[in-house]
Amino acid sequence: MAILDEIRRFWDDDAATYDDTPGHRPTSAAVQAAWTAALEALLPPAPARVLDCGAGTGFLSLIAARLGHRVTALDLSSGMLAKLSGAADAEGLDIAVVTGPADEPPHGFDAVIERHVLWTLPDPLAALGAWRVAAPGGRLVAIESLWGDVDPVETVRARAWGTVRRWRGTAPDHHGSYPTEVRGALPLGSGTHPRNVAGMVAEAGWPAPRLVRLRDVEWASTLEQRLPERLLGVAPRFAVVAG
Ligand SMILES: C[S@@+](CC[C@H](N)C(=O)[O-])C[C@H]1O[C@@H](n2cnc3c(N)ncnc32)[C@H](O)[C@@H]1O
Repeated sequence: MAILDEIRRFWDDDAATYDDTPGHRPTSAAVQAAWTAALEALLPPAPARVLDCGAGTGFLSLIAARLGHRVTALDLSSGMLAKLSGAADAEGLDIAVVTGPADEPPHGFDAVIERHVLWTLPDPLAALGAWRVAAPGGRLVAIESLWGDVDPVETVRARAWGTVRRWRGTAPDHHGSYPTEVRGALPLGSGTHPRNVAGMVAEAGWPAPRLVRLRDVEWASTLEQRLPERLLGVAPRFAVVAG
């Protein structure tokens, strides 16, 4: 599928610098602790068989493996997964990696996790359905943030952040951006709202979706910021948990 080839190329090219952006990896002990506590509370007891979809350089996979879970990381981009494997090896963590599309996952898991991946899927509903088959009777932990034109307050906040970043000369989060036609083909490509994510999770057959606001992660991230960024705050982070 041509669009997946474009997306794979984008992330293979982004792999070298992805972890340079604060937010793409825990930047302080407080942020690390907040993410670890969040994942520990949301996942089944360790050791569970956990599939991290769109695992990237391993943000969630590494935390889950440190918590004692048996983690498989699935991603379209072998470049991103190579970074993940390097980080896992450096810590002596055993994380299996599978290169492939999110809607064709391996099976036999107790939990499926993802962070910031639904927006980039051509068919997020199909992927959520496939993840249910990968973990029948298991748990879903879909971690997202509220961003984009789905919420007027976040639109204003993002504009303000953009202004401050230009003023500071901050490097962009990625080496480039998706072509307009690729972005336009993604159902969540212009923003994720908890309402939409929870609705899709339910429609995909996951039982009893519930919304969890990740306030400690937000707070710890805010503590890292200088003025005036700290006054602007961070986009609300949330998990849709089901099963
Ligand atoms: C924004 S990054 C998030 C990475 C990681 N989950 C994190 O929290 O840092 C999106 C990831 O999704 C992967 N991805 C994009 N489209 C995909 C697809 N259709 N199937 C599997 N992975 C995909 C990309 O290669 C990239 O690693």
